[in-house]
Amino acid sequence: MNILIADKFPAHWKEVLAKQGHKITDNPALDENSLPAAIADNEVLIVRSTKVPAAVIDAGKHLKLIIRAGAGYDTIDISHAAQKGVAVCNCPGTNSIAVAELAMGLMLALDRRLVHNTRDLQNGIWNKSEYSKAKGIFGRTLGIIGLGNIGKEVAKRAQAFGMKVVTYDPYDKPEIFTELHITPEPDIYTLAGLCDVITVHLPDTPQTHGLFNKKFFDAMKPGATFINTARGGLVVTQDLVDAMKTKQIRAALDVYETEPKANDKVFNFAPFQGVENFYGTHHIGASTDQAQDAVAQRAVDIIGEYAATGKFLFRVN
Ligand code: MLT
Repeated sequence: MNILIADKFPAHWKEVLAKQGHKITDNPALDENSLPAAIADNEVLIVRSTKVPAAVIDAGKHLKLIIRAGAGYDTIDISHAAQKGVAVCNCPGTNSIAVAELAMGLMLALDRRLVHNTRDLQNGIWNKSEYSKAKGIFGRTLGIIGLGNIGKEVAKRAQAFGMKVVTYDPYDKPEIFTELHITPEPDIYTLAGLCDVITVHLPDTPQTHGLFNKKFFDAMKPGATFINTARGGLVVTQDLVDAMKTKQIRAALDVYETEPKANDKVFNFAPFQGVENFYGTHHIGASTDQAQDAVAQRAVDIIGEYAATGKFLFRVN
């Protein structure tokens, strides 16, 4: 099969695909504007951050399968793909541990202000008295909103740190709540009022878009921590920034309402300019070697199954 890879993909797994007899075109510089011309006679398209709007699907006259090398698929027009008979498959679960590790890292970093600590040291400042002010996370209440693959990995890690874990998930999951000893809360506002730290692990859908807005931040305890490693569109940025300024909410984000394209190097930092209690990373939650290897292996498995049987594993449309 002809396979177009329009994002970074581990070399080892490209070799595996080539050895299986597939013709690989590898061009991580492609974007939504250049993809229609590049898609040509390819039957399979693999993308990570690169967007796949309807125009790409229309241009792919031989396109049968789009693989989103990650969990979320909000960057792909899945309903247009379905109309055109193109399957979209994702790789759920393969990068959950990596995202959970980042969420835990951000939580600890904010509590101990690790970035500020380092910045001062690098500027020749020793300030033990200031940086001795930390709440600690043992015994604190963590609210996990969205108890899917990633939320569950966060829960296990937080419990190992001695945190009390509560959750809100749009779907009732009694067996999982029991198995993980997690208390479900009836809604996100009740949860917000209980928690010292809140971490979000939901997809960005019409139901969840902008869910974390003034009403939600008003319900949070003053000085509590908010972490989003899921999708930027879940949060109304200005409402979060207002809460950070007025009630000392600390926030750590890996994802943003507006993110640069994969190959762009400029980020609009304006909303967070001068906001001291903000830590941010560059949408790297899923980006460990282990996770990228697991995602690529899953993508290769999906192609293998399709080539052998015509079936689509992990189809989302
Ligand atoms: C995901 O949806 O799994 C991640 O956001 C992948 C990524 O980093 O693009």
